[in-house]
Amino acid sequence: MTAPSLHPDPWRDVDAQPDAAKLAASLELRGRTPTQARLRGRFLRFVPIRPGDAILEVGCGTGVVIRDLAAIAGPRGSVVGVDPSRLILREARKRCRGARSRVTLREADGAALPFKGGRFDAVLAITVILHVADPLRVVAEMARVTRRGGRVGVQDQDFGTVAVTHADRALTDRIMRGVAAHIYAEPDSGRRLPGLLRQAGVQDVRLLTDVYQDTTLEPWTKTFLERRAEHAVRFGIVDASTARRWLDGFTELVARGAFVLTMNYYGAVGVTR
Ligand SMILES: C[S@@+](CC[C@H](N)C(=O)[O-])C[C@H]1O[C@@H](n2cnc3c(N)ncnc32)[C@H](O)[C@@H]1O
Repeated sequence: MTAPSLHPDPWRDVDAQPDAAKLAASLELRGRTPTQARLRGRFLRFVPIRPGDAILEVGCGTGVVIRDLAAIAGPRGSVVGVDPSRLILREARKRCRGARSRVTLREADGAALPFKGGRFDAVLAITVILHVADPLRVVAEMARVTRRGGRVGVQDQDFGTVAVTHADRALTDRIMRGVAAHIYAEPDSGRRLPGLLRQAGVQDVRLLTDVYQDTTLEPWTKTFLERRAEHAVRFGIVDASTARRWLDGFTELVARGAFVLTMNYYGAVGVTR
């Protein structure tokens, strides 16, 4: 059970969560999901990340994106990851051993990056802006540490775009919208990213809209829906037996080959001048 004083978004302070190890594991689960890996790859090509780049990832988690970045940047490149969670960084250090370029992992908050201005060719935050208290401040910091002509890229899912099959549509809306509204200041975070970059003074902003699609209830999707059900009970949106019945509804759809979940990911990239 989460202590009442904690922020409802567990990603705000991973180390304070009773299930921090589970959160870390969920990042790796997502990273391994084939549709997610393709979606990530498309965004990194859109930025684009190039061999030899000096790259910073803000909110690097367990290093899923860091490993992709290192593979692209290669031996002439370097990748720095920052995250405020010690537990997450410990996990990232284990998982990033043997990366193809120089990888450095540091404890830091995206709102106060411990780097001098203009240090990086590309600075990214992937599924992070949604979770921070002051998104504009983080994006402004990302722009500050990017060299002139370098790229600033942000990508977020947008919970206002989740479409999922279920026999009880009203209950599904109540749980999905209710939980997202309870946890996030801006559940529709993805669609606001181009505006946020422009507000931070980033120029030539481009948008890549991508879709996560699942028709088989991948392990990561299952965890996502189970966490929504858990939160719905915790926030008093539904009782435990209704949450159980809701989850069972998905299992039944999968058995009939009728399960579909889609969710938009918005990736915005611009250049510093
Ligand atoms: C959903 S995870 C995404 C991790 C990684 N980017 C990925 O896609 O696998 C969000 C991460 O942002 C980190 N985070 C939360 N608040 C942050 C902040 N203010 N500055 C930087 N990172 C933050 C969390 O600790 C967590 O590791």
